[in-house]
Amino acid sequence: MEKEKFYITTPIYYPSDKLHIGHSYCTVATDTMARYKRLRGYDVMFLTGTDEHGQKIERIADSQNMTPKEYTDKIVTGIKELWNKLGISYDKFIRTTDDYHIACVQKIFKKLYDQGDIYKSSYEGWYCTPCESFFTEHQLVDGKCPDCGRDVELLKEESYFFRLSKYQDRIIQYMEDNKDFLQPNTRQNEMINNFLKPGLEDLAVSRTSFKWGIPVDFDLNHVVYVWVDALTNYISALGYGTEDESLFRKYWPADVHVVGKEIVRFHSIIWPAMLIALDLPLPKKIFGHGWLVINGGKMSKSVGNVVDPNVLVDKYGVDAIRYFLLREIAFGQDGNFSNEALIQRINSDLANDLGNLVSRTAGMIEKYFGGTLPKDRTETPFDADLKATVAEIIPKVEEKMDNMFFSDALIEIWNLIRRTNKYIDETQPWILCKDEEKKGELANALYHVAESIRIVSIMIKPFMPNTPEKIWASFGIKEGEATTWESTKTWGILPAELKAVKGETLFPRIDMKKELAELEAAIKASQATNIANQQKKKEEKEDEYPAEITIDDFCKVQLKVGEVLESKEVEGSTKLLRNVVKLGEEERVIFSGIKSAYAPGELVGKRVVVAYNLKPRKMMGEMSYGMILCAEDAEGKLSVLTTDDKEFKSGSGIS
Ligand code: ME8
Ligand code: MG
Repeated sequence: MEKEKFYITTPIYYPSDKLHIGHSYCTVATDTMARYKRLRGYDVMFLTGTDEHGQKIERIADSQNMTPKEYTDKIVTGIKELWNKLGISYDKFIRTTDDYHIACVQKIFKKLYDQGDIYKSSYEGWYCTPCESFFTEHQLVDGKCPDCGRDVELLKEESYFFRLSKYQDRIIQYMEDNKDFLQPNTRQNEMINNFLKPGLEDLAVSRTSFKWGIPVDFDLNHVVYVWVDALTNYISALGYGTEDESLFRKYWPADVHVVGKEIVRFHSIIWPAMLIALDLPLPKKIFGHGWLVINGGKMSKSVGNVVDPNVLVDKYGVDAIRYFLLREIAFGQDGNFSNEALIQRINSDLANDLGNLVSRTAGMIEKYFGGTLPKDRTETPFDADLKATVAEIIPKVEEKMDNMFFSDALIEIWNLIRRTNKYIDETQPWILCKDEEKKGELANALYHVAESIRIVSIMIKPFMPNTPEKIWASFGIKEGEATTWESTKTWGILPAELKAVKGETLFPRIDMKKELAELEAAIKASQATNIANQQKKKEEKEDEYPAEITIDDFCKVQLKVGEVLESKEVEGSTKLLRNVVKLGEEERVIFSGIKSAYAPGELVGKRVVVAYNLKPRKMMGEMSYGMILCAEDAEGKLSVLTTDDKEFKSGSGIS
């Protein structure tokens, strides 16, 4: 029989050098679903990739003195390494800079233009570059981007437009006919009421103000709007529009697009409209997941927690990180990330509940039976209830997994783990072992526990790609009949004379206090190097290409002539002098790092140049108002700037 197909996608990522654990979340969840479906016998196509065009990427690359493609090549290598590290089992990785994708986008654009769904006009609106989104004046919140709160730019450009407005009724109809199209369900009402019902406007789908995009091949001044480019990846990856459309015919429509909640709008409105215009079926489901936040706020690299996925995986292992992400945060909702919560989960759920169960069971088989269970077993009064629990839990796990309620599925699996631990407490092997008569019961109890562990090891496999094999190694289980999903439904598959060896500890316990202190120290050290690196980069850049500024920029700095009245040592400082400087009627305290060049008092009476409107700042416990300008040579020798006329009137402007 031919396998049923399952096509699942993640968003394609903007190449960012600031990847944090939040970015891994979506891909780990999607991977877990893909692995689950493979285990259930589906022919799975799991697509992921990178979204490499647009003004944002062009600007970042420019700021790093690279071409956009050089920049994205560098980041994509890192992203692929990270996915490998996290055990992401994608079937295809698409880059929007791949030739076949570019050709596909151009072909679609032309087709929509030829059939009148795209037309040329001009556009005036507010553009948010980080979000790559246009807004009308009245969509702005306090003049800023309604999505991210950052500054927007007014753009007036000639542009191609997509007749989005033409499709709104058909999209509403599709949502009403397919109540489960958007998951969680609440997202559907949000889209209908907030975006579709108020009416859609035609969408500007080309840009002329920058170059880093897919050229509109019949009008080369224009590049295709990044979202049209990006969304097309879901079909270009399958060879849509090429000579060989076999993958497309096999896998389209997608069974589910997994996306972050902030991009549900693009996937549930623009994408369906494009597909309807192309006369293609719509995806079956769009799952909008929530965000990993820190103390309620968006995740970034400077939030007092280690959030670098590479560091976290190196420290705690892939399986622990994957488990944490999918257990701690209900899929669809936001969830808090903290290093403390992560360590807590590792200690309680992984080291204690699961790790202990496996190691003590193997340990008891070694200790009581020299590593091999005897064939003869006698039932214990607790067997029936354990088996009933297993039978109840399996369909529940399946139901939760089919709906992508990962956290609930894990809760069910852990119920079984805890139930099995309780069974050990009930049967009390350490008492049974003392009585020769009870050897049959002892063997039976340990066999039951081992069977239960086998079933658990299969159910956790989509979440934790590495742990099951370690468990199997402990009980001499080979991947095969005893490790299929279907085998969870048959009790007693393990051989009667089961062999066991206590293997390596699956999840070592972590000393919370010590660990948190170490993490904090690591963060401080890395922040210090970051600042130093940034400073160094900035200086190198300044040496290489002094950026040009306009006269207006220059005039922002107010310079004035000051007369030094006092210049004294500062207690506890080897560098600073505390100067009192007269600027016309005004007298100011100005600290200056010139002690290596000037003795206290040496500058008194001199006319110096003061940066007058510099923001005051605290130095050595006292405020310093402005800065005395000073030349510095390559060796660090200093010389204060003075006026040629030694009596020049203090407070005079300099221009
Ligand atoms: O949006 N928690 O790319 P992207 C959970 N290129 N998920 C998070 C997260 C967090 N803290 N931070 C980011 C794009 N994400 C487009 C997609 S698809 C045709 C084009 C998720 O790199 C985010 O929600 O900004 C999104 O789903 C994914 O990372 C990629 O985000
Ligand atoms: Mg985003």
